[in-house]
Amino acid sequence: RSIASDGDRNQRPVLNDGQQAAFNTLGLVGPALVQTSSRPELGDYQANGVMAAAKRAQRNPREVAAEVIEVLDLKGIASTVDIAGPGFLNITLAADFLAGVTAGEITASPAPQRVVVDYSAPNLAKEMHVGHLRSTIIGDCIVRVLEAQGHTVLRQNHVGDWGTQFGMLLTYLQDTGANSDSLAYLEDFYRAAKTRFDEDEDFQQRARQAVVDLQAGDAHALDMWQHFITVSMSHCQEIYDRLDVTLNPTHIQGESAYNDALPGIIQQLNDKGLLTQSEGAQCVFLEEFKTKKGETLPVIVQKTDGGYLYATTDLAAIAYRNKELNAERVLYFTDARQALHFKQIFAVARAAGFADSSISLEHMPFGAMLGDDGKPFKTRAGTVVKLAELLDEAELRATRLVSSKNPDLDDKTAAELGHVIGIGAVKYADLSKNRTSDYVFNWEQMISFEGNTSPYLQYAYTRIASIFAKGQIDLSTLPMQAIAVEEPERRLAVMIASFNDTLDAVASEGMPHLLCGYLYELATRFTSFYEACPILTSSADVRERRLVLAKQTADTLRNGLDLLGIGVVEQM
Ligand code: ARG
Repeated sequence: RSIASDGDRNQRPVLNDGQQAAFNTLGLVGPALVQTSSRPELGDYQANGVMAAAKRAQRNPREVAAEVIEVLDLKGIASTVDIAGPGFLNITLAADFLAGVTAGEITASPAPQRVVVDYSAPNLAKEMHVGHLRSTIIGDCIVRVLEAQGHTVLRQNHVGDWGTQFGMLLTYLQDTGANSDSLAYLEDFYRAAKTRFDEDEDFQQRARQAVVDLQAGDAHALDMWQHFITVSMSHCQEIYDRLDVTLNPTHIQGESAYNDALPGIIQQLNDKGLLTQSEGAQCVFLEEFKTKKGETLPVIVQKTDGGYLYATTDLAAIAYRNKELNAERVLYFTDARQALHFKQIFAVARAAGFADSSISLEHMPFGAMLGDDGKPFKTRAGTVVKLAELLDEAELRATRLVSSKNPDLDDKTAAELGHVIGIGAVKYADLSKNRTSDYVFNWEQMISFEGNTSPYLQYAYTRIASIFAKGQIDLSTLPMQAIAVEEPERRLAVMIASFNDTLDAVASEGMPHLLCGYLYELATRFTSFYEACPILTSSADVRERRLVLAKQTADTLRNGLDLLGIGVVEQM
């Protein structure tokens, strides 16, 4: 077990380092590009870097590949390395090495960082919508993976709790009587307030004054605002709890928190000579942002009336995260339409020194959730889908499904299973898609026991649990490792052993679908293994090593699902 517990001894980097060392010895230039094999029947891993390196050296790639194999030192790691095609290397791992890779457990990062994760961030003037669902679920998965690897994660819920719309809302709250019942359906409340605002001039006047009072720190206005925020935020917290998302009220650091810092941001931009007045507004023009016609695009940081913007607040947030929180990395999970916004504020923050060279700023954009018609996901009536109702339906559908599979289940158990399976299905459907693309929300597909779904993975887990139950296996008596012998065992072991490589990629790219794809492949390989390799009926030593592989698979499935924020059940 010594190999994996070093922390940096995941298999892909080990192979890559070995390969890279060979390149150095031979004076070859370029990355070794070791990755899992696309043709596992030829090897567990492949190295694709030889061709480009050979080309650079103006040499024959197959000859270079042969030299690489000659000097390559993968003793104890690889059993064979072969040349394939124009100069690929296929690498098969040694059985002992495989057995020694910590299975099912998460290895600590050799270089832990302080990472701010900015996610969820609903606008508190309205109800949370599906776009915030995506940010919440994807962000929370990345948070879990980073923490599991030993990084220090600072969750920042940059909620929209400030701005002119609050003048209208607080005035309406005042008029309707400030009880929380009227806020039960924020969406309706917002619409009613807006209608009043559009129709009633006196109301408009008072709403404008309320904004001024709020900005000036008037005690009554602040009280009303605080009440509104508390109620609205408690709706969000209910959703977080239902979704088993790790956010809590201590993670809120909303737009309002930066209000007092905004004049200083403008001042510093001015001191740096970055401010330009344009049509009355204060702007930063950076050469790198041009329209198609070649005009430089402004980042507006202060309006003519003195008001600040979303961008100004984000600049203040970057300064805070860099200077106060000492973050080394900041990840922003928002929909892709904000891509330009983030490019711009990152560039302004660098130019103004709000972000120094110690910090990496990374926007992690995601696409839209679409309905069957390929248009943004809405109710039949064309209104926004309330998240609470969406989750109700998921639980209902999942409860029905488990009850139909097991007619003997009592209602309470069925409902409990329905919760874990239904919520898991919604989360998994989202997490399993490459986040950068749009995806179509489809109940039938997500709550199915077939395909790349969470019910499929949860079911795979229960199947392994039932093998242990049937054989009355005391898991604590099993050895920690086993040497895979037959091909289906080896294929499974290779997959189990690459768990941490997958997590590294998830953490660096902010891509949960890589973990989903991994778990799906793991479950699939387990099925092939189980069909070809009987467990309980085999002779003692064969049975033992297969039980170890089964346990490692179950541990990996459970830990992997947990990192996705999805639970497992012991029976389905
Ligand atoms: N409240 C914003 C929205 O709903 C998202 C905030 C994302 N975070 C940030 N630092 N801008 O679009």
